[in-house]
Amino acid sequence: MATTLTATMRAVAVTPKQPGSARQVELPIPTTARGMAVMRVLEVGIDGTDTEINQGLYGEPPPGSSFLVIGHEALSVVEAVGEGVTGFTPGDLVVSTVRRPDDCPNCRAGESDMCLFGTYTERGIKGAHGYMGEYYSETPAFMVKIPPALRPFAVLLEPLSIVEKATFQAWKIQERMVWQPTRAVVLGAGPIGILGTLLLRLRGLEVHVYAKSPPESLQGRILTDLGATYQSVDDHPVTGIKDELGQIDFILEGTGNSAVAFEAMAQLGTNGVLCLTGVSAGNRSIEIPADVINVQMVLGNRVTFGSVNANRRYFEMGLEHFQQAERTWPGIFERLITRRVPFGDFLLALDRRPEDIKTLLTIAAA
Ligand code: BGC
Ligand code: ZN
Repeated sequence: MATTLTATMRAVAVTPKQPGSARQVELPIPTTARGMAVMRVLEVGIDGTDTEINQGLYGEPPPGSSFLVIGHEALSVVEAVGEGVTGFTPGDLVVSTVRRPDDCPNCRAGESDMCLFGTYTERGIKGAHGYMGEYYSETPAFMVKIPPALRPFAVLLEPLSIVEKATFQAWKIQERMVWQPTRAVVLGAGPIGILGTLLLRLRGLEVHVYAKSPPESLQGRILTDLGATYQSVDDHPVTGIKDELGQIDFILEGTGNSAVAFEAMAQLGTNGVLCLTGVSAGNRSIEIPADVINVQMVLGNRVTFGSVNANRRYFEMGLEHFQQAERTWPGIFERLITRRVPFGDFLLALDRRPEDIKTLLTIAAA
C-alpha cells in the first residue's frame, strides 16, 4: 500500500503561558486551497510581544492546539495562488496584517483593530498560528502587496502600521476642536518610538524623545537625524518634561511601561492628547497623583486614549510614508534593522539586547 508523504517545514512555536518554551517544530507545508495564497517567508521581525509570549506572559494557541507558532511581522513572497485568487501572482512581495475578525459590528465594518466583542484572533499572538516558519497561507483580504523598491525594509510595515493608526486616531479625535499642534513628545526609542517620531516629523511637528538609551546610542543618533531632540531619562525624568518644554500638544507613549503612561498624563498640555500603545502584560500597581491628573484632564480638555493593532488601511498608509520618508531621509529604515539572525539561532533572536532596535529572523534568501 502506498503511503503519502506530506512535505514538512520548520517553524518556531511556544507553549503559551510556559516561560522559555520557544522551540523548533515541523509542520505540514500548507497546500494551495481555493481562494488562498501560499507565502514563502523571507524574514520575520521580533518585537516586545514575541518576547512576552516567550516569557509566558501573553499569547494563546489556536483552538485544539497545544502550541502557537509565533511571529506577526513577516515579509514574504507569494509562492503559489489557489483557484479564484486575483490581484496576486507568484513572486509578489507580501506583508500580511495580524488580526482576523469576529462577527462584531466593528469587525464586520473592516475594522477588526477596533473589535468590540474581543473574540478576534491575531496571527502569532492569539488563537492563530503566526508567520515564523517557512510558509503560511492567507486570503488576499489580509495580504498587502509590497512594491519591490521597498524590499530592504518592508518587514517594518507592521510596526509602522501601529504608529500610523496611533497618530491617525489622535488627529481624528482632535477634530473635536481647533487644534494646531506644534510640539510632540515621544516616550521610548524602540521601533514604535522611532517610527512614531518619523511620522510626527513628516507631519511637521517639533518632536522631543525621552528614553533609556544614552544620547550617543544608535537610537539617539537616528532620532537626531530625523530632526528630533533626544534626551535620556537618566538625567531628564518624565516627571519634568513639561517644565522643560512648555505646552505639549501630543504625547506618544511607546515604552510599554504602565508607570510611564501615568506620568505622561501629568505632562500633557492644554487641549493635548496622549496615546498609549504599550501592552503591559504584567500586574503592577503604582501610586499616582490622582487629584493633579484629574483636575488637569478636566481644566485642559485633555484626552488619553489607547490604540492597538492596525487594519489594512494603516498598512497602506505605511507604504506611502515609507516612500515619503525614504525621500526625506534616505536609508533611514535600514538603519533600524540592527541584527539579522539565521533561523537556527532563533533563541538568540528572541533574546532582546539594549542596543537592539529591530532584530530579524531570516528564513529564506530573496
Ligand atoms: C502587535 C499588534 C497586536 C498587539 C496586541 C502587538 O505586538 O503588533 O498587532 O494587536 O500586539 O496583541
Ligand atoms: Zn470584533
